[in-house]
Amino acid sequence: MSRRMAQPKRDPLHGTARPDRLKTLEIHKSLSTHLIGRAIYLFTQLESTNQTAMQMAEPSTSHPTEVPEGTLVLAEAQSQGRGRLGRRWISPPGVNIYASFILRPRISADQATVITCLAAISIVQSIRSIAGIEAFIKWPNDVLIHEKKVAGILTELALVHDQVAHLVLGIGINVNMDFSLFPEDLKTTATSILIETGRYLDRNRLLADLCNKLEERYSRFLSKGPASLIEEYRTAVETLGKRVKILLPGRTVEGWAEGIGEDGTLIVKTPAALEVIRSGDVLHLRGEKEN
Ligand code: BTN
Repeated sequence: MSRRMAQPKRDPLHGTARPDRLKTLEIHKSLSTHLIGRAIYLFTQLESTNQTAMQMAEPSTSHPTEVPEGTLVLAEAQSQGRGRLGRRWISPPGVNIYASFILRPRISADQATVITCLAAISIVQSIRSIAGIEAFIKWPNDVLIHEKKVAGILTELALVHDQVAHLVLGIGINVNMDFSLFPEDLKTTATSILIETGRYLDRNRLLADLCNKLEERYSRFLSKGPASLIEEYRTAVETLGKRVKILLPGRTVEGWAEGIGEDGTLIVKTPAALEVIRSGDVLHLRGEKEN
């Protein structure tokens, strides 16, 4: 298969001349937050930043005091990056963002979906403003550029009686990853900002901007509830109006993606009924947009 890739070049506005290194001081310089990213743990390599963040969030004899909310665990590489639905997340060194945020919202397990939605909008907005390229959400929380996946979110919860004790919001963004670094099976469905723009991007800037956007939306969620965030999420979800096939355990649903429910669920019109889908893998099918 031939694959277009713009030649990386220096761009005074958006790019750096070659891949950068993550630096906590650089990230801090551009933060306007009180919570998100105020404490950063940066590792050269971890099995999974989500795994480490989950361990750090849990008070134990080795960490008797709670790590503060908003703590960010970062790694330059992951040896066992985790994706949704038990999949792997390809995590080569020095090119991408592998970030896990520890949060302690006082919400139920059901409400935690909104945190994943607000993270998806924040990623889309940061890519638009720092990389200068349009990105969209494929429901529930894949971020796509030109219909290919550039970022994913894995939220993991620790619950006490259905209430969130803490959660880890794990975000992977393919930033400066060259086409050759993708395994064959992902080459037609995944991409990076570098592949789509032809420019290396300063990951520290992108991360700081993401922290700022996450904090604004997370505070809005805690103070005002989910409504305005779900509204914003709807505008960035590319799935709406499309013909979709949803792979669920034991069955598939095919129909038109009609809307997003108040809790971030996907509403699909099938010939038989309106189905409310809570989670699953969505394929966008070719077909006319429904009016
Ligand atoms: C997906 O399958 O779309 C979710 C991918 C989430 C990947 C990120 S990378 C940082 C964090 N640590 C992990 O092990 N996974 C998440």
